[in-house]
Amino acid sequence: MSNQLREIGRRLRAPFNRAAAFRELEKFHARPRELESIVDAAIKFPSEGLFRVESIQQRSEIQALARAVAAIKPRNILEIGTARGGTLFIWAHLASRKVVSCDIEDPGIRRPLYEAFPPPESQCKVVHLHGNSHEAAFRSRVEREFTTEPVDFLFIDGDHTERGVEADYNEYKHLVRPGGLIAFHDVIEKQALPTNQVFYFWKRLKPQVNAEEFIDHPDQCGFGIGLVRV
Ligand SMILES: C[S@@+](CC[C@H](N)C(=O)[O-])C[C@H]1O[C@@H](n2cnc3c(N)ncnc32)[C@H](O)[C@@H]1O
Repeated sequence: MSNQLREIGRRLRAPFNRAAAFRELEKFHARPRELESIVDAAIKFPSEGLFRVESIQQRSEIQALARAVAAIKPRNILEIGTARGGTLFIWAHLASRKVVSCDIEDPGIRRPLYEAFPPPESQCKVVHLHGNSHEAAFRSRVEREFTTEPVDFLFIDGDHTERGVEADYNEYKHLVRPGGLIAFHDVIEKQALPTNQVFYFWKRLKPQVNAEEFIDHPDQCGFGIGLVRV
């Protein structure tokens, strides 16, 4: 089947998949959830098609990060790199005030699903910003979201080139309060894609900061989370 036909099929099924995704979210929110079950749902949420929510993360690594983030009781979280909304799902359950998630891809009809991620009792608001994190005008839009309160946790998981990840760190770290956290995904050296170059920046940054690593297995290909305590 051509990509065009597949896309038409996805569009035709969208209203059903949308309704199913909201039903699943309501079911998920119907009872209090432990952090582990929030992370599991983020890795593969039971929704499909244009409303598929998932995250390509190593379970033990993202759980360790989620625990570290939960421990600082974050009010505000900033994420660069939304993709299928998996990690956004976790942050929306941890932040008590606001999560801003950014992606160069337009979330389109998925946006209302993202906004519905926080559990019903939460005051957390999800804001999705569509644009290139490296553009000055986009950075100003992000900064405007945090004029009254700083970011407690910044997750950098967008552009994985060495220059790209370095730019995201240098251009957004000023938003994070002292005592806050900054994490990077894919800090392992061995990567399937040559454009995954986070390791090279992380190797330079690590000796200069209060760093920690969550790595499932030292020989794994890909993944690995680097954490900076600001
Ligand atoms: C690895 S995915 C993010 C995965 C997501 N954090 C998760 O684990 O559920 C990387 C995302 O970053 C986005 N991205 C890449 N370069 C970007 C840029 N310069 N600005 C904003 N988003 C970017 C891509 O479109 C992609 O959706």
